Amino acid sequence: MVPNGDDLKKAAAMEALKLVSDGMVLGLGTGSTVRFFLDGLSKMVQNGLKVKGVPTSYETAILGRELGIDIDESYSGELDLDVDGADEADPSGHLIKGGGGALLREKIVAYNSRKVCIIVDQSKFKEKIGKFGIPIEIFEYLHTNTKRNIEKLGAKCTLRKQGAFKTDNGNLILDCDFGLIDKPESLEKSIKKIPGVAEVGLFNGLCHTIIIATGNGVKQIDIEPA
Ligand code: A5P
Repeated sequence: MVPNGDDLKKAAAMEALKLVSDGMVLGLGTGSTVRFFLDGLSKMVQNGLKVKGVPTSYETAILGRELGIDIDESYSGELDLDVDGADEADPSGHLIKGGGGALLREKIVAYNSRKVCIIVDQSKFKEKIGKFGIPIEIFEYLHTNTKRNIEKLGAKCTLRKQGAFKTDNGNLILDCDFGLIDKPESLEKSIKKIPGVAEVGLFNGLCHTIIIATGNGVKQIDIEPA
């Protein structure tokens, strides 16, 4: 039987659970793939595992608490392991994130984690990222100007839900089509220089491991972050 998308998401999440051990402080990502990870983690906690979870969104905080996971939204140390999904990933660990709008907190948590593990199904693993577009979190103040300045870098940008979508930080999301991305590092830097940009959904040099669920089993790619 050909596995469906949910089977693959669950397979990737189950593999990531093998990286979890007692006493860890975990970054808990956001989205439908991470949901399977949280379900599995909840079972491990019920069986006696002691971990703390630092959520990357209100959605994950609420879900984690419902599942009996010890949630800490103001943790001040370095995290042991961050497990998150992605919208696209390439073999060098460049990621596009923010399809769910949680990219800013996701990037903060990833940056503060000793190890970042990304769980995806095969449809998201590409030689070159960009087809999904890049979600960019921007401040509402003078947002039309911010959009125009981003478009000067060569993108066509759309305000998510015509501005009705607000992130957990009260900001807007611009979905930006830059086409396939040749130089993710320099593009991330150029976008971040624009005043009004809160964070970019391009993650470079943050990912240590990608777990990819395919119809033929689960693959793991380990990356040495820059
Ligand atoms: C949340 O803003 C995103 O970065 C998610 O991690 C990403 O969109 C993956 O979500 P799914 O697992 O639901 O596809």
